[in-house]
Amino acid sequence: MGCQIHAAITTVGHYLPETRLTNADLSKMVDTTDDWIHTRTGIKERRILPDQKRATSYMAARAGKEILRKRGIEPEEIDVIIIATVTPDMFFPATACLVQAELGATGAWGFDLSAACSGFLFALNTGAGFIESGRAEKVLVIGADKMSSITDYTDRTTCVLFGDAAAGVLLEPVNDGCGLIDSVLHTDGRGWESLCMLGGGSLNPPTHDTVDRKMHYIHQDGRAVFKVAVKGMADVAAEIMERNQLTGDDIRYLVPHQANQRIIDAVARRMDLDPNRVMLNISKYGNTTAATIPLCLNDWENELKKEDNIVIAAFGGGFTWGATYLRWAYDSVTEDV
Ligand code: UT7
Repeated sequence: MGCQIHAAITTVGHYLPETRLTNADLSKMVDTTDDWIHTRTGIKERRILPDQKRATSYMAARAGKEILRKRGIEPEEIDVIIIATVTPDMFFPATACLVQAELGATGAWGFDLSAACSGFLFALNTGAGFIESGRAEKVLVIGADKMSSITDYTDRTTCVLFGDAAAGVLLEPVNDGCGLIDSVLHTDGRGWESLCMLGGGSLNPPTHDTVDRKMHYIHQDGRAVFKVAVKGMADVAAEIMERNQLTGDDIRYLVPHQANQRIIDAVARRMDLDPNRVMLNISKYGNTTAATIPLCLNDWENELKKEDNIVIAAFGGGFTWGATYLRWAYDSVTEDV
C-alpha cells in the first residue's frame, strides 16, 4: 500500500439556509399529511433558501469558505473547483466560476458536473482523478442544489421531497493507505424520462408554452425510480464490498444518498449493516440532491476516525448511480465555534 497516492478527504464543510419548511407547512399548501410524508420518506422538514437573489453559488461559496477556514488554507491554494449541481445559477457561466470568484481562488480552474443525485459521487471520483494523476494537490468538490427553484409547490408528489443546501470536501493526496480506494459507477440513460426537468434546455427552450405546461419543474415517476434505486444502490454496495473483501462488520459507516429512508434501509439490510452504522439525516433536510452525501459527512465528521472504512452510495436521475469505498484520512478536531 505504502507509496501509492490516493485522494483523501481532508476537510468537510457545509451551508444550510435558515428557513425551515416543515411537513405541517406543506400540509397547508397541498393535500398531504405529516404522517404520509414521514412514513413514506422519513422526512420531517427541509431547508429552503427563499431569497430570490441568492442561488446555488451563494450556498456553495459558503460551504467552500467553511472548508478553507477549517483547513486553514488560503483560497489561492485551491487548484480545481468542481460543483455538482442540477440547479446552476445559470446555464453559463458555470456555477464553479461564480464560486471561484466569490472565494478569490485565483489559482483555480473549475467546472460544473451534472449527475443529479449522484452528482457528488461522480464529482468526488472526478476530483480524485486529478489528485491521483498528480495534476492537482487541492481539489474542492462541492455538491449544491437550490431544489426549491425547480420544485412545483402545487405538486404533492414532488414538493414534499426536496430541500436546499450545499456541502463539500477538500481532496488532497495521501500515501498512507487512506483515501478513495475503489469505485463502481454507472449510467443508464434509458431511464432518463423517469426523473427529469424537460423545459429550459435546447430540446424545449423556455417559452410561454413550456412555462404554462410546467416544464421548468422536476418531473418524477416516483414508483419507477424507487424500484430501480433500491436495486441499483444495493447491487453496487454489495459489489464494492465483495471486491474489497469487506463484511458488514468491517464498515464503520454507509453514507447513502438521502432520497427515501426506505431505500436506505433496504441497502443497509443487503449490506448486513447495523442501523447505527448508517448516516441518516433525511428527516432534517429532505433530498438536497448533490448535497446529501457531504451533508452527512459534515454531520458525522466528529465521529469519524482515521482508517475508518466508509462506503458512499448514490442513485439518481439519468439514471446515474454508484458506490465508492474509502478509508477515512483523519481524526477530526472539534472546533470551538
Ligand atoms: O433522489 C433521486 C432518486 N429519487 C428517489 O429515489 C425517489 C424514489 N421514489 C420514492 O421515494 C417514492 O416513490 C415516493 C416517496 C416519491 C412516493 O412514495 P410511494 O410509496 O412510491 O408512493 P406512490 O407514488 O406509489 O403513491 C401512493 C399514493 C398515491 O395515491 P393512490 O394512487 O394510491 O390513490 C399518491 O397519489 O400516495 C399518493 N401520494 C400522496 N399522498 C399524500 C403521493 N404523494 C403524496 C403526498 N401526500 N405528498
